[in-house]
Amino acid sequence: MRLRNIKNKNELIENCEYLIEDASILKNNWQEEFGNNNPIHLEIGMGKGSFLLGMAKKYPNINFIGVERYTGVLARAINKINKEEITNLRVINIDAIKLNEVFDHEIDTIYLNFSDPWPKKRHAKRRLTSEDFLRVYDNLFKGDNLIIQKTDNVGLFESSIVSLSTYGYKIEDISLDLANTDKENVMTEYEEKFVNLGVKINYLYATKKR
Ligand SMILES: C[S@@+](CC[C@H](N)C(=O)[O-])C[C@H]1O[C@@H](n2cnc3c(N)ncnc32)[C@H](O)[C@@H]1O
Repeated sequence: MRLRNIKNKNELIENCEYLIEDASILKNNWQEEFGNNNPIHLEIGMGKGSFLLGMAKKYPNINFIGVERYTGVLARAINKINKEEITNLRVINIDAIKLNEVFDHEIDTIYLNFSDPWPKKRHAKRRLTSEDFLRVYDNLFKGDNLIIQKTDNVGLFESSIVSLSTYGYKIEDISLDLANTDKENVMTEYEEKFVNLGVKINYLYATKKR
């Protein structure tokens, strides 16, 4: 995601009550952090945060955590989130490959929205649905694994279906044109852009038994 430099980036990040700076200290204690036993949903690669914020407002009985590895992008999200008073939302600044340092069987659902497609074969391991990442996710889930993916990118979608199925996930639901379904949907920044250009959005809902 390209962004023009955000000037007060460090200040925004330092003063954000929603950002957990050293998220690893909350490993096994996330319910305590939220002060309730509500399910915890994770968005990996949250970008500028519209989806995360929209979901947290729409579903107050679910706790949402956004994961983003680039501080420049995170600062944009924080700028938006800081204007809200919301108790069921946190953000963390980490590469998703390290998420086992932060969660131990505490997550109910993972959202992968418009993840970077990494189209070249030699970069396939970097896709958020590659086997390396799926292995990391196994230890995040509290019960059965549940991944929900949205993407405009057909190549990434195809590779995700193969990777998830090979790894033991069951694709329970799929759409090649999300806008033409009756599914509840909160749009992401990328999604809005693509939908406005008339691009169809691919969607899948995949589960794996523990
Ligand atoms: C194409 S953007 C999509 C942003 C947002 N989900 C949306 O739909 O508007 C992908 C985002 O995922 C983040 N990302 C990619 N790989 C990541 C990783 N391994 N760990 C954490 N964030 C990652 C990128 O920095 C970028 O902000």
